[in-house]
Amino acid sequence: MRIDVFFGPQEVAAADVANRVVAVIDVLRASTSIATALANGARAVIPFVSSEDVVSRAKTLANSEVKLAGERKNQPIPGFDLGNSPLEFTRAAVEGRTILMSTTNGTAAVLAVQGGRDVVIASYVNFSAVLSMLRAAVRGGTDVAIVCAGNEKHFALEDTACAGLFVRHVIEKHTAAEVNDAAHAAMLIDKKFGSSLKKLFGASAHGTALAEAGFAADLVACSKVDSVPVIPVYQDRQITKLGPDRAR
Ligand code: MLT
Repeated sequence: MRIDVFFGPQEVAAADVANRVVAVIDVLRASTSIATALANGARAVIPFVSSEDVVSRAKTLANSEVKLAGERKNQPIPGFDLGNSPLEFTRAAVEGRTILMSTTNGTAAVLAVQGGRDVVIASYVNFSAVLSMLRAAVRGGTDVAIVCAGNEKHFALEDTACAGLFVRHVIEKHTAAEVNDAAHAAMLIDKKFGSSLKKLFGASAHGTALAEAGFAADLVACSKVDSVPVIPVYQDRQITKLGPDRAR
């Protein structure tokens, strides 16, 4: 079995995800916000690359059913209901709603790997929940791909560290699993920062930019390991929470 890491969706060919369980990681902040929205009762999150596509889709749905969400340059998109801060996706804001979302890297990364057998949205906040799915995949003979959203086609330290944590925990149970060079590098980065996500985010360009833009509280929310124990799964053009009604 294989568990491979990709530093960005631009590295991923169709064959890299076909027949695999694919975990998409955008720790800061799309993966964390998507998990939070679903945990707080959102019916679904529908990812879009462009904000124009969000607006077009919204026009086909009743106002009371949807919320428009997303960011550009870390700031909420003008006219949208929500930005991309996990703290905004409260139960009061999202329960029963479908979230139409466009972020700079995260939603595009999900759409880039939609050829995967199963696509799951991963972060630190839902680490153990997603880990159980990745371990089950490998145990059942399915290869895994972990795709970092990255930062505008560049490497992102926090996504890679999180990927390394997943790889380490999968291969400690499945020692025969083979990994690619990026997975080895990701494990080294995870090891360097260990459990100090504050140091990790402080060292990362995106973490620093978010803090400077006034989103320090988001960094705290994104660092709470296992605080949002849901498995968001992308299927049929939408992300929903894996649960009894979506058992696989
Ligand atoms: C993204 O998708 O690029 C991010 O989630 C950016 C952000 O921190 O809002």
